[in-house]
Formats: sequence, C-alpha cells, structure tokens
Amino acid sequence: MELNKIQDIKDELKGKRVLCRVDFNVPVKESGIVMSDFRIKAVLPTINFLKDAGAKIILISHIGREPEETLLPVANYLNQNLGLRVKFMSGIFGENIEKTIDEMKEGEIVMLENLRSDEGEVENLPLFAKMLSEYGDVYVNDAFSVSHRDHASITGVPKHLPAFAGLRIQEEIKNLSIENAAEPFLAVLAGKKFETKAPLIEKFLETADMVYVGGALVHDIYSALGYEIGRSLHGEPADMKIVENEKLHFPKDVLVENGARDSYKNATEVLNNEMIVDIGNESLEELKEFSKKAKTIIWNGPLGKRKTGTESYLNFLADQGSQIILGGGDTVELVDKMGLINKFSFVSTGGGAMLEFLEKETLAALSFLEKK
Ligand code: 3PG
Repeated sequence: MELNKIQDIKDELKGKRVLCRVDFNVPVKESGIVMSDFRIKAVLPTINFLKDAGAKIILISHIGREPEETLLPVANYLNQNLGLRVKFMSGIFGENIEKTIDEMKEGEIVMLENLRSDEGEVENLPLFAKMLSEYGDVYVNDAFSVSHRDHASITGVPKHLPAFAGLRIQEEIKNLSIENAAEPFLAVLAGKKFETKAPLIEKFLETADMVYVGGALVHDIYSALGYEIGRSLHGEPADMKIVENEKLHFPKDVLVENGARDSYKNATEVLNNEMIVDIGNESLEELKEFSKKAKTIIWNGPLGKRKTGTESYLNFLADQGSQIILGGGDTVELVDKMGLINKFSFVSTGGGAMLEFLEKETLAALSFLEKK
C-alpha cells in the first residue's frame, strides 16, 4: 500500500495550517493523571516534523466515548512532560477558536477539545466535517488506532482537504503488513468478543502456522465443546469448523475463581458457580514452548481477566529474539507499565484497528491516504 506521506510535502508546509488527527484516547485517572503516554509519544515524531517544517499545527482527537470527557489532561501532559507548548481550546467551534487559529505563528500548536463532545464526530455529519476542515490547509492523519472508524475527523474531513499520512501511521502499516512474515508464524489472539475476532482467527488458520486462542475468547470454544464455563464471560459457542481445525490451540487448564478461593484445574472440570479468570500453568508453559519455535509472533489481547498469565508471557517474550508484534489496548497498557515497550519488534497503538487491518488489510481512513 503506497501512502501520500507528510515527507512528500515537507517543503510546502511552511506557514500552512495543518489539521492533524491524532489518537489521544489514553487512560486518565479521575484526578487528571495520564496513566499511559504510549499513544502520545507515538505521534511526537509527526508533531515535531510538522513543527520543524514551519507548519501551524491544529491537533484534533477524541478521548473516551462520553461527550463530557476532556483532553485537557493530555494537553497538560504534553506541556509539562514532553516539552511542547500546546494551547488548549476548551471547545471545537467558536469565534475565540477561529481567532486563535488565525493568529497562529509558524511552529505553534493548538489543540481542540474532545471531538466526541459534538455528536457530529461519531455520526460523521457532513457539516461538522466541513466546518472542522476549514481550520486547515492540509489534513494529516496520524491516528492509526481510530482509523477503522467512519467518523467525521477520519473519513469526512479528508473529503475537503489534501490528505497525508503521518509518520506513525506509516510505521503501523509497514509493521502490520505481514504477508511475508518469517515462518513458523504463530498468531495469539485473546481478549474478549469471539464473534468479532472469528474472521481474523479464520484468516490466520489459513495463513499462519499455528493459532493460539486465549482470554475470554476461549470460553466460547469450551461452550462449543460442551464444557461447563460457569459464570465466565462468554458469547455464542464458537463455530466447530474453527474449533476442530488442527492449527488451533487453546488452554487445557485454567485458573478459576470461586468466591474468595482460586484454584487451577482442567478446563473440563469447571463448576457452574466458578469463573475462569486466567490461563492455567501447564497451558502457559505449552504456549511458551510453541513460542520458542516461532520466528514471527503476533499477539493481541490479554490471556485472562487476571494479569498473571499475561505478565508471565510478556516477560518470557521480552527475552525471545524473534519478530514479535503486539497490540490491543489492555495488553499495551500493561507492557508500558512493565517498561517492556522497547523489548518488542513492534507495539501497535491499535486495538480494534490492528485487528481490522490484519483481517482486511485496509481501514476506512486509508482510502483517503493512499496514492491513487
Ligand atoms: C481505541 O482506543 O481503540 C481508539 O481510540 C478507538 O476508540 P473507540 O473504540 O472508542 O472508537
């Protein structure tokens, strides 16, 4: 996939207003403390590139799913911890914002409030997209993790402005385009919502050498096999076509919670008042053995509701020399907290976007960024 890149217009950016879509949807404590800056740091190269080229940068993002959530803590974080000078606007539209943008100087940065504070963003209202586009001469998308959404700032704005891919989104596409991955190739898919991940599991059953399913996804496999899953999170039983595929592997033992008591047991022995909360020890060892043989590993989603299995597998993978690509909001937050981000070949900023890109090899945003 060939993208229109910001590097292509470096010499034309001086004095231009660049409307730059980033994904600052990061976990923030009620007290306003940013809990993971991975997604923020991921777009710094693009912001600095635009700054150095003399652009006037207008940052736009969403945070959370509720209209009242605010990006103010992120703006403060950029100013206090990352050495930028960002002027935060507590709205999206208004005379004050127009005036601030009109008066911007080269290299200055303005950040607008949470785009989802206006229903026009998620509903992709044409007027909202048009009004937003009027702030810029050029549109840059560096928000890979939300590029699967058909939202105004993703697929509406680039209808009105010349559109370019930021440095991070270019990295994401390069690293997640895995058609030539070194073999043996192991795909580890975990987390929740089997039904949404089933198409990707099916695809990997064709293209990968081995697919390991973990987390709550496996509960739907147990249901399909007729095992009791008690109070465990679940959806519909998995399709037997998937379950019976010989490339598919999943935990045979699990950790269950029963009131205040935890116990490890065979997955066939779960009681109806128990809840499966983690991968079992024997299965974790087996997964590590599979992983030792793999030259490429792609992993998305935690191995259990409890963090123990996921942490142990992360620590193990961090010492492997193979090509390891990780993603998924919860997993990445944990990797960041454990200080292991730099131990892996690539850590995607995407959760749903990563899965959708791996499955479809494209995303809603990309048709606006691709070279025609
Ligand atoms: C994410 O966190 O995956 C992105 O920011 C997209 O958020 P959404 O799932 O609320 O659209």
